[in-house]
Amino acid sequence: MKLYILNGPNLNFLGIREPAHYGSVTYAQLLEMIASHCRERNIEAVCRQSNHEGDLVDWIQEAYKEGADGIVINPGAYTHTSIALLDAVKSVMLPTVEVHISKVEEREDFRQVSYIRTACVATITGHGVKGYLEAIDLLLERGAGKV
Ligand code: DQA
Repeated sequence: MKLYILNGPNLNFLGIREPAHYGSVTYAQLLEMIASHCRERNIEAVCRQSNHEGDLVDWIQEAYKEGADGIVINPGAYTHTSIALLDAVKSVMLPTVEVHISKVEEREDFRQVSYIRTACVATITGHGVKGYLEAIDLLLERGAGKV
């Protein structure tokens, strides 16, 4: 099984940015956690992060072209603004799980909108960085490549 694990803007600053919301694990440590989790489950994980919306669109399309079985995405603030990411996920028809480290539903009003959510098979919020591992397991249990 091959999964794309995509992170949007400012998630490269994990461990530095607002620890009360996002905790103390750094992005590098998150990548290690994902790598070891996926190694144990024989999953190939392609991990990417960008502060630029178009890069995320390109990588969602790349996941399709490369024959990935699913996508885990934390779109960061683009969650609340990006129709382009919604359209990209709809275009590729790959099972996609939306992850948020913080409990977005208990935060500001502007975080209550998620454009991408309607195209996702599940959303995990407020479980900290463990949410990424849960999303991976969810896709694994669901089976490869089925929307
Ligand atoms: C976030 C929540 C978003 O509202 C915020 O803009 C982020 C991170 C999360 O992981 O909790 O950048 O997606």
